[in-house]
Amino acid sequence: MWFLGMDIGTGGTRAVLVDEQGSIVSSASAEHAPFRTPHPGWAEQDPEDWWRAAVLAIRGALAAAPQPRQPISGIGLTGQMHGAVLLDAAGQVLRPSLIWCDTRTQPQCDWLHATLGYDRLIELTCNPALPNFTLTKLLWVKQHEPEIFARTAHILCPKDYVRFRLTGAYAIDVQEASGTLLLDVTHRRWSSEVAAAAGIPESWLPQVFESTDVCASISAAAAAETGLAAGTPVVAGAGDQGAGAVGMGILAPGSVSATIGTSGVVFAATASPVKDPKGRLHTFCHAVPGRWHVMGVTQSAGLSFRWLRETFFPGQDYDALTQAAQAIPPGSNGLLWAPYLLGERTPHLDPEVRASFAGIHSSHSSAHFTRAVLEGVAYSLNDTFTLFAELGIPVSAIRLGGGGARGPLWRRIQAAIYGLPVEILTAEEGGAFGSALMAGVGVGHWASLDNACGNAITVAERITPDSPALTAYREGYARWRKLYPALATLRG
Ligand code: XUL
Repeated sequence: MWFLGMDIGTGGTRAVLVDEQGSIVSSASAEHAPFRTPHPGWAEQDPEDWWRAAVLAIRGALAAAPQPRQPISGIGLTGQMHGAVLLDAAGQVLRPSLIWCDTRTQPQCDWLHATLGYDRLIELTCNPALPNFTLTKLLWVKQHEPEIFARTAHILCPKDYVRFRLTGAYAIDVQEASGTLLLDVTHRRWSSEVAAAAGIPESWLPQVFESTDVCASISAAAAAETGLAAGTPVVAGAGDQGAGAVGMGILAPGSVSATIGTSGVVFAATASPVKDPKGRLHTFCHAVPGRWHVMGVTQSAGLSFRWLRETFFPGQDYDALTQAAQAIPPGSNGLLWAPYLLGERTPHLDPEVRASFAGIHSSHSSAHFTRAVLEGVAYSLNDTFTLFAELGIPVSAIRLGGGGARGPLWRRIQAAIYGLPVEILTAEEGGAFGSALMAGVGVGHWASLDNACGNAITVAERITPDSPALTAYREGYARWRKLYPALATLRG
């Protein structure tokens, strides 16, 4: 038997077929139209476009599958989190979706904090209101488009809309639901108190399932469009961070990943919902039943490196830049980079702060600037590890993912700045792969996600930091920490 995993991302949708050993059989992707920004800070996409891309990706993955083919026994979904899809009673989309990176809703966040109280909201949902979270987007529609709000009968997140088109079911998983700000994350059920305070009828909310639960099956209409078999079971799945963690085997309390994509995410599995009273970390349900996770987000991680290259080294490739930076000693002879190109989420929750180089000396070369950027991004991810220590969240091993795991230099810098050995996986297949594993568990092929990941995920390399680098970065981090308070005074 095979399993299908689907990742409805921001840029595109990917479908992967996975076999009984947890190996990838085939995959295909289809791009989305770029999100629209009709006003600064807005970000909107059309749910119909996700569905178009999902059909193409499924058909592509099926067509690319080698012979002899196996029946697809289960399907799992993941995708960009937090987006709000509003549907009427007939299941028709009422307006474009406000997606995760739409930041127009600070006034709605302020209103929620004033109405419920900052501390009470964290008590109920484990998180404060951030413009990324779904509820704040619903409140914006309520205030600015009351005629749309009045016709609303169902709300869904992006991947759950694709599930609706595949199956006709209104369903969500606990991990995704955690990012709506409407879930009682501790008890893994909707929070009636938050819904009532915000004026969201509970009848609008999809049914909540654990990630590995079978919650629906492929409809005859979707079977005809996609080439899948009608009746194929679909599990609830998880948001991209939750499914990505499953894809990297971050399941047991103590296991942690540090993934550098455009943004950077430090993700830790926990045995209970660990709340930061100040709301600096996200506390969500894990895709593993009975477990939770915390995560901290650096807004401009890979983006810092891309910005540096495009702005100052056009035409040069990343490898040439990192090669030159390898010759520079740890600490970049005092040059520092604060990566706040888009403000910062963790730990500062400050969208207005801006990036800076500091400590520039006439002896610094262009290679120092490259190394300082790689170090500054890792220092920023290390801020999340500092919060973990403050909150007593254990870290026993760190797996690296994304672009930050690819080159040897950024791997070594991360190990030395985090002060722990880091692991590199044989293959990092991402959230679509994680959601296919959830499907395999849901239909009973693997007994649990621990079991599935134990079979399918292997460590290729372990990097232990050396002690001169550890010392240089301990001192470097202490200096780097002084940058944010100084930069915060420069807010325009
Ligand atoms: C998670 C988050 C992103 C989005 C888009 O909190 O904002 O991971 O899901 O990828």
